[in-house]
Amino acid sequence: MLRGAFRRATTAATRPSTFRPSLPSSSTNVRTVATRATQFTLNTGAKIPALGFGTFQDADAQEDAVSRCLQAGFRMIDTAQVYHVEEAVGRGIHKSGVPREDVFLATKLWCNKFHPDDVAASLEDSLKALDTPYVDLLLMHYPVVFQRGDEPFPRDANGRMILGKTTFVDTWRAMSSLVKSGKVKALGVSNFSQGEIQTLIDKTDVVPAVHQMEVHPYLQQRDFNKWLRGHGIHVVQFSPLGNMNPFYRKTGWSKDIAHTTPPITESELLLEIGKKYGKTPVQIALAWGINNGRSVIPKSVVDWQIEQNLAADFELDAEDMDRIATMDQRLRFNDPSADYEYRLYSDLEGIEGTKDGKTH
Ligand SMILES: NC(=O)c1ccc[n+]([C@@H]2O[C@H](COP(=O)([O-])OP(=O)(O)OC[C@H]3O[C@@H](n4cnc5c(N)ncnc54)[C@H](OP(=O)(O)O)[C@@H]3O)[C@@H](O)[C@H]2O)c1
Repeated sequence: MLRGAFRRATTAATRPSTFRPSLPSSSTNVRTVATRATQFTLNTGAKIPALGFGTFQDADAQEDAVSRCLQAGFRMIDTAQVYHVEEAVGRGIHKSGVPREDVFLATKLWCNKFHPDDVAASLEDSLKALDTPYVDLLLMHYPVVFQRGDEPFPRDANGRMILGKTTFVDTWRAMSSLVKSGKVKALGVSNFSQGEIQTLIDKTDVVPAVHQMEVHPYLQQRDFNKWLRGHGIHVVQFSPLGNMNPFYRKTGWSKDIAHTTPPITESELLLEIGKKYGKTPVQIALAWGINNGRSVIPKSVVDWQIEQNLAADFELDAEDMDRIATMDQRLRFNDPSADYEYRLYSDLEGIEGTKDGKTH
């Protein structure tokens, strides 16, 4: 029942937009910028593209969206077990005609499969659904362990999440043992605090290759990003467009700031900077992440948006990077701590205003 509810909620939360803003073109002053295809190097030695494609929501549209985005030029796909789109993603990759080895494919284990004895089988489920012999990156979706079983959101009679008895360190050790099989090329985490990553480093001998976390101009996390870089951990920004995703206004735990903060498409500063390069605020926000040495994984099922996002890898002047730095308001939109019965991001910025309320 919950699984169905999740599908319905996520499909209804997103509607392809029909309004296409024109690209800024204030005639003579627009700079011609070269579009790049930046790649970064992980601590495994493997390359990861700067631009990736998010697949959370719109399950029915993802097969075509994945196929079209690869044909357009994207080379990284981000998915997760809990999105219930892995089969569509697998079909989309095949349909695109782009060879599997040219695609960087990442998926995430979900919290009800974190018991060490469940991890290998859960990966097999993902590989089967994705119809691929390996993934380039396997992430632990959250540091929270839910009760084992097939229920993704196991709740008690009062609707409260039931947590499991093992820890994320146990899960990490089980994930680490999968690498030698060749079915996983690199390992990472998502939604971890600095202290939790430090715990992994102290208690195991595998440093995550990637931390996938919320970063956008309104939540820049400069100190944490610096710390991660110092430990050789590559950052992949999720929700790189901030609260553009309507999910952050519709979910039961949406914070007040998700309703009161204007979308980045209305940011006067991003609009102004965009005029200089002939780019939209969305493209400037994505370029800002890439110019900071991070990957970005915008989600879209709309062709013109996919094209725009693909043209968002270009060089920004240092003065514009400095101006975007002033936009930081420590606004964290993704914070299901209360529902998950676990204080996420405990030593990080933007945890004020956490709302109780069901995730799914
Ligand atoms: N690890 C985690 O816990 C976690 C959490 C959240 C997200 N993620 C990953 O990160 C990906 C991206 O995050 P997100 O989906 O939350 O948000 P996002 O990519 O920041 O924003 C998506 C929203 O922006 C719109 N959009 C995309 N490109 C646009 C453009 N060029 N112009 C105007 N609007 C545009 C999309 O519209 P349409 O819907 O109309 O196409 C959608 O409403 C997810 O799909 C998922 O893969 C991971």
